[in-house]
This record gives sequence, structure tokens and C-alpha cells, in this order.
Amino acid sequence: MTPSLPQPPLLTIDIETLTTELQALAAISDATTPAVTRIVFSDTDLRARAWLKDRCQAAGLTVREDAVGNTFARWIGHEPDLPPVATGSHVDAIPNAGAYDGTVGVLGGLEAIRALTRAGFRPRRSVELITFTAEEPTRFGIGCLGSRLIAGTLDASAGQRLRDADGATLDECRERAGFQGPLSSVRLARDTYAAFLELHIEQGPLLERAGHDIGVVQAIAAPATLRVVVEGIGGHAGAVLMPDRHDAFLAAAEIALATEAAAKDTGAIDTVATVGVCELFPGAVNSIPSRVRLDIDVRDIDEKRRDFVLARIIDACHANSTRRGVSVNIEPLNADPPAPCASAIIDTLVAACERRGQTYARMISRAYHDSLFMSRIAPMGMIFIPCRGGISHRPDEYASPDAIAKGVGVLAHALAELSVD
Ligand code: GLV
Ligand code: MN
Ligand code: MN
Repeated sequence: MTPSLPQPPLLTIDIETLTTELQALAAISDATTPAVTRIVFSDTDLRARAWLKDRCQAAGLTVREDAVGNTFARWIGHEPDLPPVATGSHVDAIPNAGAYDGTVGVLGGLEAIRALTRAGFRPRRSVELITFTAEEPTRFGIGCLGSRLIAGTLDASAGQRLRDADGATLDECRERAGFQGPLSSVRLARDTYAAFLELHIEQGPLLERAGHDIGVVQAIAAPATLRVVVEGIGGHAGAVLMPDRHDAFLAAAEIALATEAAAKDTGAIDTVATVGVCELFPGAVNSIPSRVRLDIDVRDIDEKRRDFVLARIIDACHANSTRRGVSVNIEPLNADPPAPCASAIIDTLVAACERRGQTYARMISRAYHDSLFMSRIAPMGMIFIPCRGGISHRPDEYASPDAIAKGVGVLAHALAELSVD
């Protein structure tokens, strides 16, 4: 017998509890409120994980963790052998971030499950809430670490070569955090899930500007990261004459400006490039920088155009090396294709918006998400909600309780729909 779907009056979102939980999670932070810093496998991250596991267990979910700390909280359906429907996001946060990036998808996913339970719904397929490890690249230089390993986009041997800035390997860090077992065991087969949905703040201004409740994502833009290390010649800031210098920072500064130009010159609004890390060695005011590390982030919905921008940046690195007499080492950390959302899931989300009376717009995701990699193993869809001013990766990131409740309502409805399929 197919269980009947809970309809809007029955499917109510407990936004008070969810708001309290979002605030409680935001308070587990290495930065002062309202800023949130939660770096993967830090003590703070481990406290947040423990708190979250308690919340999932209190909701009656069965929790399992894999070897890299991806956490799976399952609401068991009445046909538990069928591939489950999954939802989720991340709870790690970049330095000086806000309270909503990722957390809305995790705690909102939990509330969607609780709302369906309260409505008396019982899924046919199990529904699984996934909290992915290290969506943010802060510690290991590569974003979506947990979902890349799940999808096999990053294989275990490449994972084992990853190190943090202190030289600690991923294996050392995860084992110290209590996550044991071979990294290869994280990978999941293609048919593990019937569908994957992610609820997330838009991190851009379009929904708020247009006054829409929901963004139904059509595709996720293609991200790439380059790590560039410039080696020049250091020396005394007073004594080395200007014509004799091979200043690594000045070469890096030119590379940063070339990065901006390469992105702007495409003339496409969808091309973006950012130098988000610039580390100087030795970093003393009276010392000429001898080494600089730049991490460069380039994205576009059009992969060919993204690759063209990468090539221009690499050309600028070589040109600088010659002109300034420095050496430049370029390491591509990732260059991922864009991910289309599954058309059947888009249709389900549109129907859920209509059923719940929410206005919606179809849009692309310029930010990347674990969904980019989950799309490799399951039909994937994303639900965006507006956030104030489109601001994200900042302490003043904010999504209103009303916006969150609407997003969770659409998520719950879609999970129910997909779980009876
Ligand atoms: C995710 O945090 C991104 O940088 O898009
Ligand atoms: Mn983020
Ligand atoms: Mn995020």
C-alpha cells in the first residue's frame, strides 16, 4: 500500500525549535558570535558533530559514520531494502563565516524528517540525512572532501596524499578525530540512493531581489582551484637595492591582477575568479618576501570558458616568472565539471513549491555544494532560499525564520514524494 502524502495543513514546520537549534550550533564556534569558525576535525567541529548526533538520535534516527566522518542518520522506511532518499549538507564553516551556510540543509533536513513524522507519515524508502565532512576547503585545500570520496571523484590514494598546513595527513587527522578504517570504504555505489536533495541558502542576491520564496536549481557551476607558489629571493628590506630584487610578493600581486583580468575579459557575468589565500614568507616588515603561496578559485557554468580562464592565469604565471626572475610552481587542486540537476527531481521540487504555495525561480548555483558530487551517484536536486543581501561567508550572513520554514516545507514535501516512489 502506498502511504498517503501529508498535505500542507498537516505538514507543519517547527521553526521555533529549528531557529533555536541553528543558534545553538552557531555558538559551537572558534570565533566570537555572530562569527562562526568551525574547521574540520578541530575540537569545535567534533563538539558540533556530537551535538548533532544527539539531535538525530533524539529524533529516532539511526546514526552511522564512515571512515572520513561523513555522518548518515537514517529514518527507516517500511521497505528498508530499497535505495533510500537522501538529503543533507555540511556543518563545517570557513574562518569568520556565518550561521546558515550548510547548517540550514542539515538542521532543516532534520526538521523536515521530524515534521513528516509528526504528520504521521511513514516513508516507503528510508530517508537519510547526510552531514558531509569538509565541504569547505579550509583545512585540506580541496572542497567537498567527504562527498568527493563518496562519489569516487577523489580516490582513496589521492585522499591519502592530502595534508593540512601543518603537514598532518588526512589519515592522521581523521584517525585522531576518531574516524578509523580504510579511506576506500567511504565510496558508495551508484545505486545507493534513489535521490539526493540539498537545501541551502542562495549565497547570492537574486531570490531576495525578485521576491521569490524558493530557487529551484537547474545546474551547479564548475569550480577549479590552482595553488601557485612563487619563489623569489629574500633579503634585507633596507639593504637590497630595488633593481637587484626578485620579490616573490610583487610577482604574486601581478598574478592576482592577471586573474581578475582573465575573468573579466570573458565578458560573461557567470565567470568569477578570486585569490582567496596569499601567504607570505617570512612575513616580516623588514624582509623581502622570498616565497608566496596563492590559492586561486575560478568558476563558471561554462566549463570550456572556465578552462580558458585557467589557461590565461597559467600563462600569466609563466610570464611573471621570466620577467621577474622568480620560479613559479602551479598545482591544480581541482577542476570539476558543472553538474546538471536531474529533470525528474526539478519537476518534483516545482510541484512541491506549487503544492505549498511558494513562489519559485529556476536558477543556477554559482557556489559549489556536496550536491555537485552526489550528482555522480544519484539523481540530484537543490532547493535555495533567499538570504539577506545575498551575503554569505561572512558573520552577517542571515536567512529569516520565514524563509527557512518555507524551504524546509518544500524539502519535506519533496522527500515524502520521492520516498513513496
Ligand atoms: C562553497 O563554500 C563554495 O565556496 O562555493
Ligand atoms: Mn561555504
Ligand atoms: Mn555550503
